[in-house]
Amino acid sequence: MLAHDILIVGGGLAGLAAALQADPSLSVALISRVHPLRSHSVAAQGGINAALGNHPEGRDDSWEKHAYDTIKGSDFLADQDAAELLCREAIPMIYELEKLGVPFSRFPGGVIAQRPFGGAGFPRTCYAADRTGLVIMHTLYEQAWRRRIKIYSEWLVVKLLADHGICQGVVVYDLTTGQIFSVKAKAVIFATGGYGRVYLRTTNAYINHGSGIGIAYKAGVPIKDMEFVQFHPTSLANKNILITEGARGEGGYLINRHGRRFMIDYAPQAMELAPRDIVARAIQTEIDRGNGFEGEYVLLDLRHLGPEKIKKRLPSVREICLHFAGLDPIEKPIPIQPAQHYSMGGIAVNIKGETTLPGFYAAGECACVSVHGANRLGGNSLLETIVFGKIAGHEASKYVKGSHLRESTSQFFEGEVKKVEEKIDEWRRRSHGEKVHQLLNRLKVVMSEKVGIFRQEKDLVQALEEIRSLREAYEKKGYLAGHCRRFSQEMVNMLEFDYMLDLCEVITLGALARRETRGSHYRLDYPERNDQEWLKHTLVTYQDGRPVLSYEPVKITRYSPVTRTY
Ligand code: FUM
Repeated sequence: MLAHDILIVGGGLAGLAAALQADPSLSVALISRVHPLRSHSVAAQGGINAALGNHPEGRDDSWEKHAYDTIKGSDFLADQDAAELLCREAIPMIYELEKLGVPFSRFPGGVIAQRPFGGAGFPRTCYAADRTGLVIMHTLYEQAWRRRIKIYSEWLVVKLLADHGICQGVVVYDLTTGQIFSVKAKAVIFATGGYGRVYLRTTNAYINHGSGIGIAYKAGVPIKDMEFVQFHPTSLANKNILITEGARGEGGYLINRHGRRFMIDYAPQAMELAPRDIVARAIQTEIDRGNGFEGEYVLLDLRHLGPEKIKKRLPSVREICLHFAGLDPIEKPIPIQPAQHYSMGGIAVNIKGETTLPGFYAAGECACVSVHGANRLGGNSLLETIVFGKIAGHEASKYVKGSHLRESTSQFFEGEVKKVEEKIDEWRRRSHGEKVHQLLNRLKVVMSEKVGIFRQEKDLVQALEEIRSLREAYEKKGYLAGHCRRFSQEMVNMLEFDYMLDLCEVITLGALARRETRGSHYRLDYPERNDQEWLKHTLVTYQDGRPVLSYEPVKITRYSPVTRTY
């Protein structure tokens, strides 16, 4: 049987950072469901935050101010020790990336360029035009090659294995052969990204089903703050490709049907550079009030920036608009609408990336440390992947080297593979029933209509009922029509849908229980933040076949919660 000391699941930035930090004397391998350079991290555009103080208006910046902005942006739900660690580490991290070869954009004189981003007191977002995720990915991937890290591409992990109270490895579906088998590992790090594809409108790639979070949950590991779902304010209307916040950072305006910069009504000081939850709600409100266009979108106007700035700083935005909307943002404003973008919640981990299951770690979007609390600031996600990916790689190495682990028997591994095979056989035996892509489409509608930017009890209750009836349909009638197991999207969907249903149930349950408004979680029926009752994290654990909710306090170090105004 295939065995490694450390197995990293996910080939995006958090996974690569973990792999590069893992002890080279150990056998380290990385599993990715696509070629790593097709991971969703490549789609990150606008930048990565660090208080370098390179911008003329950013000289007084500091990591403490970055931490405060992050905590305020989180609507005070972030754990402050984690946010401080993130922002302190950001500065050396950027210089480390620079040394590895990341081609950051530069100011005249040669220092790394920085731009303003939402919710930030100073311009502190370092960038490479609007291709920041792409260039960091290429740099780290190159390093992974240089260090000969073993990479298994086109493998989908479908189960996490725990035995004797510790993590023992994973079960994998190899898309290239169609085979299911187990891989033994002393430590497993999940860096599996987010779940955007449970919504109709999302900036996420088609691979972002979120099954990693669901797999951890089904293995009994608590998941945290899942009700906090980020909607990015500016996705290209009806295509939902990300139009970076960097476009507003460079000075872009949001305009409604009356030609008005409506952000004056919602965030009179920060305007277009308020945090994402506020800007997304403002745009949706304008659309809902009939101040948008065709009931669907508002405009992002870049024309006043001029052709030179657009071509130099926002070349991908221009290309996206040319190819997918048939317009040139130098000449015409861009139609935009909010779309699901990011998960603040995820697998509950401490600041070492440890979960409750010894030997099992998580980092990046699939994890909840929690540095983003109820709303993430733009530019903090790339940062989190590298800072906490590295920490997870380091901690997993320490764990593997420091413990005498009790290995499972080969019968255990065979039994776990057999359980997955039996499920597939059952789906095959049914000659008709419910097609998984249709079930998935219904799930997306429910989540978009009832668990979106604005929420209320009656919708959430209905959503729960619908999610549970979709589960019944999936379990009783779900079937596989195709017979080829190689590169079968139908099989991928069948294997992942179970976990998608779990995630949607947990998101909805958390949202229903949280009777307040905080960050991205806006309750029409409870429109105020309520620190007395709700300054706490939601944890959901899978016990005896059902979700069980509990709560834990937010870690406060030095920043007392105040009303958030921008
Ligand atoms: O708008 C953006 O460029 C996205 C950045 C982020 O999600 O951090």
